Amino acid sequence: MENARTIWLTGATSGIGEALAKRFLKEGRNVALTARNSRKLKTFVARLGNDESLLAVPADVTSSEQLGAAYRSIKETWGAPDMVIANAGTHINMPASELTAEKCRTLIDINLVGAINTLLIGLPDMLERGSGHLVGVGSLSSYRGLPLAAAYGATKAGLNNFLQSLRFDVETYGLHVTAINPGFVKTPLTDRNTYPMPLIIEADKAADYIWRGLEKHKMEIHFPAAFSWSCKLLRVLPYPLYHALVRRITGSAKRRG
Ligand SMILES: NC(=O)c1ccc[n+]([C@@H]2O[C@H](COP(=O)([O-])OP(=O)(O)OC[C@H]3O[C@@H](n4cnc5c(N)ncnc54)[C@H](OP(=O)(O)O)[C@@H]3O)[C@@H](O)[C@H]2O)c1
Repeated sequence: MENARTIWLTGATSGIGEALAKRFLKEGRNVALTARNSRKLKTFVARLGNDESLLAVPADVTSSEQLGAAYRSIKETWGAPDMVIANAGTHINMPASELTAEKCRTLIDINLVGAINTLLIGLPDMLERGSGHLVGVGSLSSYRGLPLAAAYGATKAGLNNFLQSLRFDVETYGLHVTAINPGFVKTPLTDRNTYPMPLIIEADKAADYIWRGLEKHKMEIHFPAAFSWSCKLLRVLPYPLYHALVRRITGSAKRRG
């Protein structure tokens, strides 16, 4: 398949999405940008030079109607996108005393249901055309359970499983599927964290890893390597050993609340 000319990116106004949008623009791609805050989105586009390669299509990914309207705008402007990147997501650290079903539902709605909503809107056009690239942004925290991340980890594990299954179902039509699993990236989302974040990288560096992986149509893009390969190794540890080790590394056994 040719590499994508037209890309639809959600979560485009901040952090990883912002860095990716700039990178795609630099590489000469048409980029349609989605986020909820339309004023911030328009300011961001204006700051990038109001380039004719950019299109602001505000939407909340939890709303199929809003996403549908955004998708129709892209089609009317450039035709159906070649690549859809479900990047919009958020995180709420939840110690046991603050774990509520409502907060969990918020994360599931944005990170998992919102990502699936985004990926499936363009699927019929891609299947008909016999080409396209569907991309979801997961997290290394999807590999195994971590402290404070019961809901977040579940959404990202769910998304990874969704993408793995989807690949079987769409590859015979000529479509590509990629899961992006970042380690810690410095963004407004991680600026809220008060715990140590090993091997944290800048968003531009993350965009660089992602750009290179997408150009190769990789099944999974995970980074930074030293951290992601350690996480992969931890996946094969027997559960009690994994639990004891993570408790020790993160100090979670001492934490209360
Ligand atoms: N930073 C990390 O260390 C890290 C690590 C692993 C995975 N990730 C994943 O990478 C993705 C981007 O994270 P980030 O750190 O760049 O976050 P961020 O800086 O907080 O940016 C989040 C972006 O998503 C948009 N957004 C949030 N909720 C939305 C919704 N319901 N509908 C549409 N847009 C929405 C936000 O704009 P509006 O508020 O205007 O909607 C913003 O543009 C997320 O999926 C996150 O889980 C991040």
